[in-house]
Parts: sequence; C-alpha cells; structure tokens
Amino acid sequence: MLASIIAVAASYLLGSVSFSILIARWVKGIDIRQHGSGNAGATNTLRVLGKGPAAAVFLLDVAKGIAAVLIGQWLGEGEIWVPILCGAAAITGHNWPIWFRFKGGKGIATTIGVMATLAFWPALLAGIIAIAAIAITRYVSLGSLIFAALLPVFILVLSMPYELFWVSLLICVYAFIRHRTNIVKLVRGQEHKLGAGKGVPN
Ligand code: G3P
Repeated sequence: MLASIIAVAASYLLGSVSFSILIARWVKGIDIRQHGSGNAGATNTLRVLGKGPAAAVFLLDVAKGIAAVLIGQWLGEGEIWVPILCGAAAITGHNWPIWFRFKGGKGIATTIGVMATLAFWPALLAGIIAIAAIAITRYVSLGSLIFAALLPVFILVLSMPYELFWVSLLICVYAFIRHRTNIVKLVRGQEHKLGAGKGVPN
C-alpha cells in the first residue's frame, strides 16, 4: 500500500516537470506561458520556438507518461489500479504542475504516453484518427479533443478492463476542461491552424 502511494505521488511530481517551460527557458530565456497561445505544451513550443524544441518537448512529455505507468507497474504489486492512477497523476501534474505554480499544459502528449502504455490499441486507433483530423483541418486542438474523446469509445469497443474505461473518461474530461479556450475559438472560427505563425496569448 505504501509503495503504491509513493508511486502515485512520484508520478504526480514527474508529471509536474513541464518540459516546454524548461526548454523555452533554456533555449530563449522566456516563459512559454507568456507567448503564443500561452500553453505549456509541444504545439505552442512549435509555434514559438520551432520544430526542434517542439519535438524534444513532445517526446519528453510522452516519455514521462510512459515512465509514470511503468513506475506504477513496478511498485503496484500486480494491482491494475496503481499504474492507472500513476498515469492519471502524471497527466494531473502536467496540467497543474507543483513546480510551476500549477499553471501547466493541456496534457495530450503525456496522455499519449500513458494510454499507449496502458491500452495500446485504443491509443493507436484514436491516434490515427486524430492525426488524420489534424492533417485535414490543421487544428491540433481539434485532433487532441478527438483523440481524448475516442479513447473511452475504443476501450469499450475492444472490451478492455473497466478500470481503463474510467481513467480514459477522466482523461477525456481533463482534455475538454483544458481546451475550453480552444473550443470557443474553434466554434468562432478563430482557432490557430498548424503552421499559421505565432498565436496570441489566451
Ligand atoms: O495539446 C495542445 C493542443 O491541443 C493545443 O495547443 O497551444 O494550440 O492551445 P494550443
């Protein structure tokens, strides 16, 4: 029990390591949250700093999601809930990071890492559809929302454990809460398209 609690707490602390904030600070000495969309994530890093830093942020944010689930599997003594809670804790940390005054990102890259480790096929199928949506519309936020919304659907369709369904539902709620501003902009036709230059702060 103690090991499981430590695993979940460690996953939150790991998720709170916001690589977009750190890399933007190292590369340009700026707070990424003051630029572009104001989001601490890979998409905004691409917008503000370019492809190299954005790729690094994306891969590191995915990796911390994978690492959190692995920590849960390692310390969870075979309990399915422990890696699931560790994954949710890492995404919570990414969105509301203790190291950065609780102002973080929207959690999608970390969700990719978490769900690819916990539920590979649903993550892959949702990912393919999300990438297609981004390629067609050039709205990353729309693709992110489609990805999050399809996770619980595919978990149900593929009859995976109900614990995975509940965590994917929580992750979906997280994604929609964190994309509130994007949703308003999408509805108004004001959302930034991929490759359309620098965004304006939210
Ligand atoms: O994963 C974040 C993405 O969906 C939207 O990012 O910076 O355009 O708000 P941004």
